[in-house]
Amino acid sequence: MKIIEFEELESTNGYCGGLDLGSVEDFTTVWAHRQTAGRGQRGNRWESEGAKNLTFSVVLHPVFLPARRQYELTKALALGVSDWVMDEADSKRVEIKWPNDIYAEGKKICGILVENKIGERYETAVCGIGVNINQTEFGEGAPNATSLQLLTGREYELRGMLERLLESLRKRYEQLAKTGHQAEGNPIDEEYMKRMMYLGEESKYVYRGETISATITGVSQWGHLQLTTNDGRKIECEIKEIVFSRQ
Ligand code: BTN
Repeated sequence: MKIIEFEELESTNGYCGGLDLGSVEDFTTVWAHRQTAGRGQRGNRWESEGAKNLTFSVVLHPVFLPARRQYELTKALALGVSDWVMDEADSKRVEIKWPNDIYAEGKKICGILVENKIGERYETAVCGIGVNINQTEFGEGAPNATSLQLLTGREYELRGMLERLLESLRKRYEQLAKTGHQAEGNPIDEEYMKRMMYLGEESKYVYRGETISATITGVSQWGHLQLTTNDGRKIECEIKEIVFSRQ
């Protein structure tokens, strides 16, 4: 596993975007101790205190996945990170908030941003991962954040943590390579759904600007969230179309 380490980058995903990704080996990892313009989901910034947390991107070539099953990679990554959080955080309650945020004890500990290149098949994925490790204070922009140190009271050495996390991702990636094509009885699909936050619970959402009460029922093969509203409407939506009222 090749880890390319930087003191500072604007964004590890941005750095990978400038590489000739076709010739980069799977699991090549770009790790920055601090990012000055970390990218998050929905065009947001990813704020992370320098040298306290992990901010890195892993380059993968999931060529074994047909383009229509690209969301399987998102699920495998979310499982790989959540497996590792469960091990490191003394079996605290760990959940996946759709699409791929990792929550521990109801607070966000990790965000994932996958940037894909897809033709007829999957070509490359730059998998950007930010995990809160030793940060203990979070600003107004992250009111519901937590870190491993807040969960366990321990202080962590970052390189060892990164290596173990990459090992956990590799196990799930190998499982994905074996089973990712299976539409039925797919273990990654099943475990992802078991860990999904709010599944089957009625809650409020803002959907296309309208407040609705609805229950999450599943995720489509395209990765769209599926909900049923209180008045029986079935909805499928992308990340930009819905806001969770509960953090
Ligand atoms: C989210 O908004 O939840 C996704 C956050 C992803 C942050 C990581 S940190 C490393 C990588 N480089 C970036 O610029 N973003 C991702």
